[in-house]
Amino acid sequence: MLYRWRQFRGLRWTCLLAVWGWFAVSSAGAQEAGPSIPGAHPPVTSTFQLTGVGSCAAAGCHGGDGSRKKSDGTTVDFSSSSYSEWIQRDPHARAYDVLLTERSKNMVRQLGQGWHAAHEDSRCLVCHSTLEPTSAKADYSVPQWLAQNELLHDGVSCEACHGAAEKWLGPHTERNWRGHPAREGLGFVDLRGNLVRRAETCVKCHVGGPGRDVNHDLIAAGHPRLNFELSAYHANLPAHWNVEDDRRAFPLLENSRGSILEAKLWLVGQLTTADAALDLLATRAEAVQPESKGGAAAWPEFAEYGCFACHHDLQSPNWRQQKEPIKGRKAGSYPWGTWNFPLLTVLEPPDSPLTDALLKLEQTMGEPAPVVSDVLPQVKRARELIAAELVKHTTPVSLTADRIQQLLQRVTRDGQALSGRDWDAAAQVYLGTVALYHARLQTEGKISSLKVPEPADQELLTALETLREKLKFPQPPEAPARFASPRNFDSDRIKVIHEQFKKLEELVKRP
Ligand code: HEC
Ligand code: HEC
Ligand code: HEC
Ligand code: HEC
Repeated sequence: MLYRWRQFRGLRWTCLLAVWGWFAVSSAGAQEAGPSIPGAHPPVTSTFQLTGVGSCAAAGCHGGDGSRKKSDGTTVDFSSSSYSEWIQRDPHARAYDVLLTERSKNMVRQLGQGWHAAHEDSRCLVCHSTLEPTSAKADYSVPQWLAQNELLHDGVSCEACHGAAEKWLGPHTERNWRGHPAREGLGFVDLRGNLVRRAETCVKCHVGGPGRDVNHDLIAAGHPRLNFELSAYHANLPAHWNVEDDRRAFPLLENSRGSILEAKLWLVGQLTTADAALDLLATRAEAVQPESKGGAAAWPEFAEYGCFACHHDLQSPNWRQQKEPIKGRKAGSYPWGTWNFPLLTVLEPPDSPLTDALLKLEQTMGEPAPVVSDVLPQVKRARELIAAELVKHTTPVSLTADRIQQLLQRVTRDGQALSGRDWDAAAQVYLGTVALYHARLQTEGKISSLKVPEPADQELLTALETLREKLKFPQPPEAPARFASPRNFDSDRIKVIHEQFKKLEELVKRP
């Protein structure tokens, strides 16, 4: 009931299309994009001003039809059609338009007093356009001149990810731009060389953070739950860049034909997502401190907990009363962080400081009224440990093929127990297995030539396919078309899922 079917479609995509369809690169048809004129008052982002998508869209810049060749004459210059790709196929180009739909209108009606029209309320625009959050929160309506500005109407456009272009628009057309040492100082966000930066860019909207909040109020009013996983979302985003080049920028040390991009995306995604979720938790905790003005903030925030712990049918016999007890979580306590954290414990040895810190926090947050002065230092500690991990991934330094294989084996092994916890953990283990399986193919230099699965892969793919089926929500006519939830996730299903991960653990062992 709570879950939008479309969201789950992401998982299907990842498994099927991402393996065989990754190399189906840009095929943007020609589209003439007349340069639009940005508004008279470009809004200020953090430091620099936005220039608007109009400054990228010219046919000679990024609005071409994808036929322009690179200077070597052989390979396509993908940057020539980035705009065309975005406007035609990227969901971000519609991010503003959805604020004008009946669904959004109904959401703000449900939210009640104090909300403006969705397309004029900064609490929606901070994620559905290029508007940056500001600290002035007294009035959430955006000024009229800004509300009418094309910069917002363009939705999540180039500068939301690549950075406000005021200072780099000129320099970035010059030859030496890729190696320009001061790019980031000009406001350009280096998504290419630095995957942590790339992940941070996505999570600011797909997880949220200070000033960007999809809380339980919004969800209850009709907003989809945010459950982000970087490798899946990255694969689902229609690429407007050269995917092969991207892979080559992260070579495997022992075999330069192989790439570690996918493995890094998954690892960095897990860590960055967790960090963003913790940042959001700290922001919410600070808002309930007595000395803070936002004393009316909801605490604890339901959106951080497993949805289906509260929203499930009571049944008899009840599989929840028969399942294996979960370490540190007693029956009836609130399951916190079910989506964003379960696999961090797989990355680390069981008694590592990070696993320890997260377990402690999970216990604190599992109480009906978590004590803010306990929560804040625990969050700080966990974030420090995550930051120390992330530092290792800020440059294309290498992961080895052995480490990737070890992670794949660990996810399938630990997944057997984790998948019995709840749907969130099972879905994360599934996504992790898919990502690390891709990652292994990439280390073998295989992914771009693998058109038809080899027999060794066939069995593995069948197991993954079964898992995907078992994780699917009931479909119409069993469940309403628009909303769905895993109400069929019960002990029978968990048993099958468990068996499939067991099988996978064997299958992923190398011959
Ligand atoms: C923290 C960032 C954030 C905020 C704040 C936010 N959204 Fe969203 N919204 C998203 C993301 C991300 C998605 C896509 C979710 C997905 O598919 O994984 C989305 C999806 C939606 C959808 C579904 C779109 C579709 O194509 O089906 C609607 C409608 C929507 N948001 C409306 C709103 C409204 C109205 C508000 C303000 C009341 C709002 N959003 C606030 C990030 C946000
Ligand atoms: C949702 C985030 C996002 C948005 C919005 C976005 N990009 Fe990108 N862009 C990326 C990512 C991720 C990459 C891949 C990493 C890289 O090459 O920097 C990329 C790569 C590129 C590249 C490098 C292409 C290559 O292969 O050389 C260009 C050029 C580009 N984007 C232009 C644009 C333009 C123009 C727009 C707006 C019409 C846009 N981007 C909107 C995330 C985004
Ligand atoms: C400024 C906010 C923002 C940023 C930054 C952002 N997104 Fe989004 N993203 C959204 C919103 C809002 C939607 C929903 C759009 C809609 O459905 O109309 C969305 C939708 C998507 C979807 C489609 C989801 C679905 O259910 O079909 C994918 C995939 C996606 N984003 C991937 C990414 C990736 C990968 C990055 C980082 C490179 C990123 N996004 C950065 C706001 C953002
Ligand atoms: C601690 C318990 C709790 C948790 C956790 C929780 N909710 Fe709720 N939720 C409630 C309560 C209580 C209501 C109000 C019920 C009503 O209006 O009948 C509600 C209402 C809703 C509604 C509107 C009513 C409906 O049936 O459509 C939606 C949608 C919803 N929640 C989704 C979610 C999602 C998605 C999550 C996970 C991110 C979640 N909830 C987590 C307790 C919870």
